[in-house]
Amino acid sequence: MASATYIARRQQLETYFDRTAVEAWKRLTSDAPVGSVRATLRAGRDAMRATLLSWLPQDMRGARLLDAGCGTGALAIEAARRGANVLAIDISPTLVELARERTPADLGDGSVTFASGDMLDPALGWFDHIVAMDSLIHYDGADIAHTLASLARRTRGSIVFTIAPRTPALTVMHAVGQLFPRGNRSPAIAPISQSALERHARSHPELEGWRFARAQRISRGFYISQALEVRR
Ligand SMILES: C[S@@+](CC[C@H](N)C(=O)[O-])C[C@H]1O[C@@H](n2cnc3c(N)ncnc32)[C@H](O)[C@@H]1O
Repeated sequence: MASATYIARRQQLETYFDRTAVEAWKRLTSDAPVGSVRATLRAGRDAMRATLLSWLPQDMRGARLLDAGCGTGALAIEAARRGANVLAIDISPTLVELARERTPADLGDGSVTFASGDMLDPALGWFDHIVAMDSLIHYDGADIAHTLASLARRTRGSIVFTIAPRTPALTVMHAVGQLFPRGNRSPAIAPISQSALERHARSHPELEGWRFARAQRISRGFYISQALEVRR
């Protein structure tokens, strides 16, 4: 069962990504020119997407992949080009619609099916791999661990995802971010260290036999995020 904090945060994120930030997010994830701060975000996000994809098999023909919190769909499309059958889900129907529009008709052996809703919906079925790029960074450690446990129940291979690492720079930027007028702020991110997340994960029997296998921090200006892989 999802916790009250998870449900409250998901609601805030839906409002933010489905209304407040749609135009900014649309532009950030396109080729349109952006200012220097957003350019570092874009570069960081490109590097992160490449890192997460490099941790998935190169040949994904026949594999089922869940893109949990797919946003405008860039990662899902690249994975499908490698042959994966991707289920790409996001809580924001507007971003899902945009992702659908951006998906080329010909993806070779792969495919993308889009859905709007919660990544934890058990009706989504089984997957070989799950990827969640920057979609868990707003949830607290206990809720991230619960999310991993519930995704692990329906994953055969690995879950690759990101956390917002606890770094002094990020903490300062986070504090500065809080000075912006309330209406323009994104929902707060919840920095957590890998070791703190591992401690939370230990209280979930579903994660027994799973291990934190790889970690890679990506820092580009204002973008600081840490990729993690958990696998059986
Ligand atoms: C920072 S964006 C990243 C989007 C995409 N993964 C990318 O890297 O371009 C986070 C996304 O996660 C989605 N999200 C957050 N919580 C979710 C949940 N519980 N289920 C599905 N999507 C969720 C948000 O709507 C948002 O589009």
